[in-house]
Amino acid sequence: MLAEYQRNAGDPVLVSWIGGEPFLFSALNRLTVSFTKELGLRVSGTTNGTTLSSASVRDHVLAHYDELTISVDGIGSVHDELRGWPGGYAALRESVAQLSEAKRINNQGPRLRANVVLMRQTIGEFERLCLELAGWGIEEITFNQLGGRDRPDFFPTHRLSPEHAEWLRNEIPRLRARLAGLGVRLRGRDAYLFRIQASSRDETVPVANCRPGEQFLFINEDGIASPCNFTTQDYGVSISELDSVKTLLALPGRFAQARRERRSAPCEDCHSTQVFEKFAA
Ligand SMILES: C[S@@+](CC[C@H](N)C(=O)[O-])C[C@H]1O[C@@H](n2cnc3c(N)ncnc32)[C@H](O)[C@@H]1O
Repeated sequence: MLAEYQRNAGDPVLVSWIGGEPFLFSALNRLTVSFTKELGLRVSGTTNGTTLSSASVRDHVLAHYDELTISVDGIGSVHDELRGWPGGYAALRESVAQLSEAKRINNQGPRLRANVVLMRQTIGEFERLCLELAGWGIEEITFNQLGGRDRPDFFPTHRLSPEHAEWLRNEIPRLRARLAGLGVRLRGRDAYLFRIQASSRDETVPVANCRPGEQFLFINEDGIASPCNFTTQDYGVSISELDSVKTLLALPGRFAQARRERRSAPCEDCHSTQVFEKFAA
């Protein structure tokens, strides 16, 4: 259905695996090949990179992925400790360098992106980490503020403070220019930095109308499609009901109707990175 939509609308579709760790799902490669080769869809994925030391995994990624996001949370042992993966940072550097080199030689392969989770203990090294990632062959960098308020043992002591968030908002333009000089794009609109600042101050940001389902769909492991990962329960529609392009195109209307009937509580403090344009240039 997505392939048919893509053909009819001339609107390229990107299917992006997240998780969990997508590369541990045994059916993933078969699905990806079917999506790209048979259906002509583009595929991307976010990974901790633990499987990328395998040459066959790298070859698969090089042949079939349009974009690959690798999570890197700090330099060297900082990453290793946060991820509980001794030697992980060095392993990632090696795998990414191999991907980057193979991409250059064969002129085929995904856009290589790193996603960095910013927390109080790591934000001071963010610039140095970005420069390291540029040296690996990473082409694009995105970032999250630490989320996970459900971890009372970790979140309060690691979340960004308002001072950190303000520093970030002030420094991003300079860092973006510095990275651009190295051929690396640092993503995230000003609205995204504003959202981070608001969260750091425990301020809510309600969103009245995000135009749900027009540009982006989140589909969870139970096959429920919704405007984002926070609204699955309130606005979700089973993908078994989406049996034609017509039903797909009707989704924005269905979501808007559901919102009129009963607005989802998470919209009163929207944390959707898509809505705040984390990935925008
Ligand atoms: C939930 S992970 C899933 C994909 C994969 N297992 C990985 O590690 O990249 C997706 C992205 O969210 C980030 N992430 C994980 N925990 C986070 C948290 N508490 N706050 C913000 N971002 C987080 C990860 O670093 C990763 O880039």
